[in-house]
Amino acid sequence: MIGKLNHIAIAVPDLAASIDTYKNIFGATVSQMIEQTEHGVTVVFVDLPNTKIELITPLGTASPIKGFLERNPNGGIHHICYEVNNIEESRIKLLEAGAKLAGTGELKIGAHGKSVLFLHPKDFNGALIELEQS
Ligand code: CO
Repeated sequence: MIGKLNHIAIAVPDLAASIDTYKNIFGATVSQMIEQTEHGVTVVFVDLPNTKIELITPLGTASPIKGFLERNPNGGIHHICYEVNNIEESRIKLLEAGAKLAGTGELKIGAHGKSVLFLHPKDFNGALIELEQS
């Protein structure tokens, strides 16, 4: 089921400041900002040779990462994203195994225009996991 590490997401309180750090201190290539209204976040992707870092900040008042940033005001690692080659099959297998899916448990379209699913951290050693169709 599990494939490549697609990205690690870091929640940040000040996206512009974080972009500046990655561009000007780390010398990284950073994408344009992507506003994901459906997910309540604004994101950018930092390109690394072997994976990506997703910097996410709240968008709107009901953002799902608002509480996380209240608990972690300087930001912090929020989730990791693995690729799977058949996300619907993975979803069924996880539900059969008794895993809890985060949010509605339905597939959503992620920042790369592909289907994504979030798995509740309680079943995965405290790590919020995103699965993305490869
Ligand atoms: Co993500």
